[in-house]
Amino acid sequence: MNELSHKIPPFSASPAIDLSHLRADFPILSETIRGKPFVFLDSAASAQKPIAVIDAMTHTMRSEYANVHRGLHWMSERTTDAYEGVRDKVARLLNAGSREEIVFTASTTNAINLVAHSYGSLLRPGQAVLISEMEHHANIVPWQMLRDRSGIELRVVPVTDVGELDLQALEALLADGKVGLVALTHMSNVLGTVTPAAEIARIVHEAGAKLLLDGSQAVVHRRVDVQALDADFYVFTGHKYYGPTGIGVLWARRALLEAMPPFLGGGDMIGSVSFERSTWAEVPHKFEAGTPAIIEAIGLGAAIDYVEAVGIDAIHAHEAALTSHALARLADIEGLQVIGRARDRGGVISFTMNGAHAHDIATLLDQNGIAVRAGNHCAEPLMRRMGVGSTARASFALYTTIEEIDVLADTLERVRRFLV
Ligand code: ALA
Repeated sequence: MNELSHKIPPFSASPAIDLSHLRADFPILSETIRGKPFVFLDSAASAQKPIAVIDAMTHTMRSEYANVHRGLHWMSERTTDAYEGVRDKVARLLNAGSREEIVFTASTTNAINLVAHSYGSLLRPGQAVLISEMEHHANIVPWQMLRDRSGIELRVVPVTDVGELDLQALEALLADGKVGLVALTHMSNVLGTVTPAAEIARIVHEAGAKLLLDGSQAVVHRRVDVQALDADFYVFTGHKYYGPTGIGVLWARRALLEAMPPFLGGGDMIGSVSFERSTWAEVPHKFEAGTPAIIEAIGLGAAIDYVEAVGIDAIHAHEAALTSHALARLADIEGLQVIGRARDRGGVISFTMNGAHAHDIATLLDQNGIAVRAGNHCAEPLMRRMGVGSTARASFALYTTIEEIDVLADTLERVRRFLV
């Protein structure tokens, strides 16, 4: 397969963002893999980190670190200010009603489990939780576990052949008024489908239910305003947002957070503790037991600053151009099928190739320095719905170039000739 080696030409300008400066902000992008330029097309799994994030975390550990909320000393106060400052940044990012509506968690998975345990405990047997066929396992399994321990019903909204949510079916599944909570992805990590969240919120609220949106993919690629969307819960993770692993966010309406019991117990989430009983801290601290991910939160804050400086609307425009180009190039490859054709979609493209297993495609691409994900993408029910066992998936970020997509398409053409 050595004949597949490629050189990436200097990248062309993006009308939306200044790629020449921007790619230099991500040191890992200049690495070589087996002597070949690193073409990273797996940002939906985890995005690369700009120097600003790396430096913010390093600076904290070198010069401004102590535990937060606990120490009556200079260093703890500095660290607490930095940590709590990120709560303000996240509140601005999502246009939350207040900073108290932002709960730091370890991840999206952790945030959904928090809601499933805490809000889920307020649901009664006979009520239902509604998810969709397009969910990541993180937005399926916690609800199954809730069903199994509490006797609620779990309902599933189907996905259409093009990979969109079936909104008529959604309305029908809500019609009996038994659904207490609807938990849906805002952007599919497999199909790239962006769900019509504001319209869904209207339908869900008319049926008297609450809406949780899994924004792990969406928040990276487009502006999210939880008040304009009229959601009730919104969750995302730091590591897909150019920040570190180990930090995630739950936003919820304050009244909901106040009505919900704590999820984890421990230090920092209490008002007072005695052996007879304990009382809880005010929100959001009621949901942040133990020493939080201080350094990771500060890294997320730096990532938010970075994305704001580039501009989320410019990133959206850049990625829309990348996605159109990629869909056009992939359409020219014989035997290649793109899975999912939603009208509103982002830069995540899953595909199969006749006669080639997704793992073989990914391995051959990797031989050429090109990183894509292959498998079921933590969404087995969706793979079954779309009639595929596995797909290869290319996903884009603000640093992706048109030339990298051309290298992917050229290499896939050679992979096809090699494998098929
Ligand atoms: N959820 C991540 C992905 O889609 C890991 O790859």
